[in-house]
Formats: sequence, structure tokens, C-alpha cells
Amino acid sequence: MIPIYKGKDIEGLKRAGSALKEVFKIVEPLIKEGISTYEINAEIEKKITSLGATGPCKGYYGFPAMACISIDDELIHGIPSLMKVLRRGQIVSVDIVLKLNGYCADATRTYAVGEISEEKQKLIEITKRCFYNGISKLKEGARLGDLSSAIQLTAELNGYGVCRSFTGHGIGREMHEPPEVRNFGQSGTGELLKSGMCLAVEPMITMRDWRVNVDKTDGWTVRTSDALPSAHYENTVLITKTGCEILTE
Ligand code: MF3
Ligand code: CO
Repeated sequence: MIPIYKGKDIEGLKRAGSALKEVFKIVEPLIKEGISTYEINAEIEKKITSLGATGPCKGYYGFPAMACISIDDELIHGIPSLMKVLRRGQIVSVDIVLKLNGYCADATRTYAVGEISEEKQKLIEITKRCFYNGISKLKEGARLGDLSSAIQLTAELNGYGVCRSFTGHGIGREMHEPPEVRNFGQSGTGELLKSGMCLAVEPMITMRDWRVNVDKTDGWTVRTSDALPSAHYENTVLITKTGCEILTE
């Protein structure tokens, strides 16, 4: 069952979304050559705590941080580390979940470290466009596959790949709620959407081959199998009668 949020719950979700926006305000200026992903996460944790919120990723199946920070061929779930120091030309995604007064919000941005190649720039832009083309289909009465198909088409028409093994998700009282929000699929299929459903929509896009591998040593980091760069863009969105409202942007 997909939860439907109303009234007070929607207020709570919006407050969580606004708090997460505050967190991202401090992230962008941190993204510079020479900083480690450990330090970036430490600043994020300080900010989340100062807002009176928590970061549900920390401790989730043993994940050690509140943010997943993933560089270049790392698609998602990068573990912050002192050994991972940003270098010019890299692209880095920062994925943060925050819980405030019992309500969750989830968002991801992919940033450029200094000047990056045109190829990487385009990848970041199209990944964002995948998100917008996807959510343009959301409204009461639409089907979840309408969003999935729009995301997949946007990526594949640009020659990019869409990760199959990881998906977006419902979000609200918990970080992960039904439904599974796929970035691939057919329009007119899937769950019927209703006003009050809250979704984390998160296209995970690869430059070419969509296949990925999970790091055998840390058990978390997901990398593209062809070692080409990848990008991730995510927001928490609330479905309404006529469309949807982005809570984290
Ligand atoms: N933001 C991720 C998601 O959307 C977080 C889950 S993995 C975690 O599902 F280990 F970091 F929690
Ligand atoms: Co998510």
C-alpha cells in the first residue's frame, strides 16, 4: 500500500524538504579540489544536527555516514572517506536523506569539481532533464510507468544508460516506502497515482552501458561496469490533483 499524506503530514514533509534545502546550501561551496569526501560528509552531519534533524542513512544496514558521496564512475552509495580527495575535472554526487520530526526528505545533486569536460557537463544536464521530463508526467490519475518511460526515453535518446538494479522509492514517515520508482518502463503501466503520494524520484544515468557492480570490498559503492562517468539527480516530490510539488528544490 502506498501511503497517502494529508494535512499535518504534508506540513511535516514540507518542513523536512525545506531543511534539506538548507543543508544543500552549505554543500555547493564545499565542492572544491583538495577536500575529502569525509570532510564534506562531516560538514553535512553538523548542519543536519544543527537543524534538529537526523540522517537515516547513518546506520542503515551499517552505512557509516549521513551522505552518500560518489565520484565519476561511482554511480551511488559512495562511502565518505579521507582517502577520497576531490580533483579538478571530476563529477561528484552528494545524496542526502534527512529526517525532521518524523518526516523524511531525500535529494541528490551532481556537482562539477572545477572545470569539467563537455561530455560530463552534458551528462549532468541530461540527468537533470530526465528528472524534469519524468515528473512532468506526475499527477493524480497518471501511472507510475508514465514517469519511468519519460526518464528512460530522455536518457536513451541521448545515448545514455539507465541503471536497472537501483530505483527511486516512496518516502514519508520512512526513508523507503512503497512504491519502487523505476527509471525505466512503459507508460500506461504501473501504480495508479493519487494526490498525497510522496516519491523520491532519482534518475541514475550512465554514459553508455547501464550495467553496474557493487564494490566487493566495502559492499556499498556502486560503479559503472564500463568505468565511464555517471550522474544522479534526485528530489522528493508530492503528487497533487494537477501535477506535483517538488519539496527539496
Ligand atoms: N539516498 C539513498 C536512497 O535513496 C540512500 C540509501 S543507501 C544508504 O535510497 F545506505 F545510504 F542509506
Ligand atoms: Co532516494
